[in-house]
Amino acid sequence: MESQSALGINANAQQTKTDEANRAFWDELCGTQLAKSLGIKDQSRESLRKYDHWYSEFYPYLDAYIPFAELKGRKVLEVGLGYGTIAQRISEQDADYIGLDIAEGPVRMAKHRFAQSGLKGEATLGSILNPPFSEESFDFIVAIGCLHHTGNLENAIRQVHRLLKDGGTAVVMIYSALSYRQWIGSPYATLKRAVFGKDLAANNYSAGVGARKKYDANSMGKAAPETVFVTAAELASLCRDFKSCEITAQNIGGDGPLRFIDRRLLCRWFGRSLGLDLYCRLGK
Ligand SMILES: C[S@@+](CC[C@H](N)C(=O)[O-])C[C@H]1O[C@@H](n2cnc3c(N)ncnc32)[C@H](O)[C@@H]1O
Repeated sequence: MESQSALGINANAQQTKTDEANRAFWDELCGTQLAKSLGIKDQSRESLRKYDHWYSEFYPYLDAYIPFAELKGRKVLEVGLGYGTIAQRISEQDADYIGLDIAEGPVRMAKHRFAQSGLKGEATLGSILNPPFSEESFDFIVAIGCLHHTGNLENAIRQVHRLLKDGGTAVVMIYSALSYRQWIGSPYATLKRAVFGKDLAANNYSAGVGARKKYDANSMGKAAPETVFVTAAELASLCRDFKSCEITAQNIGGDGPLRFIDRRLLCRWFGRSLGLDLYCRLGK
């Protein structure tokens, strides 16, 4: 049997590999394919507005989770920046905004946005698993579609808790293990997961390549290196150090025959019960 320290060294080596893979994969901004499909060819103000408009229309419920108008003058951390729509919107509110991302592409894009629009936001390269900030630094932390890619969801949530001030709020979005996509694709495994759950604190349980590719693929068709799916009960357990935790599901994609039905209606009818994404509002 391997000793505790050997296991620790293996875990560290594995994490270093995951970080390197994430740094390379996410250097291509998530949203690149979408931007192409919208006819976006550059990073001009007009092109980014077009992208941001699409993003805000496609995820209209984001405004119910991120209190943009209340962030003026607050210390805000965003983790996982992608194309930078949320960075732009928060810093336009005159918040004291810092973005953190493991990959250079998203950090460069956020900095470009701030310079282009004369905003005072900052963006830093680094991992939420080892964040370059002291504890209790932020009033508000937002991480949309990021923490489940880190390779250690439990530690990522622990860091969010550590960085948040007492009385602060965090909003994180993590992919659901019990969405309509899982129920249709693998009903038996999903039923087992719903009934028994998984101990995500003890194991990472990254999804297989097929499942990862369905959610995040780059322009070469390669899947994101790591993706963990969670149930609301598992997520609540990982967030137990917070004073409050409210979890709601959202988002129905346009897969298969669903693409023939108005997405807004699908989201309204099934989003809260079978949505792809779990939005978790956490109070410390
Ligand atoms: C799917 S994108 C989401 C981007 C954006 N929030 C959005 O909604 O479009 C995931 C982002 O998380 C970042 N990321 C992955 N692992 C990370 C880590 N350990 N620390 C910080 N950022 C990370 C990626 O580089 C990428 O920009």
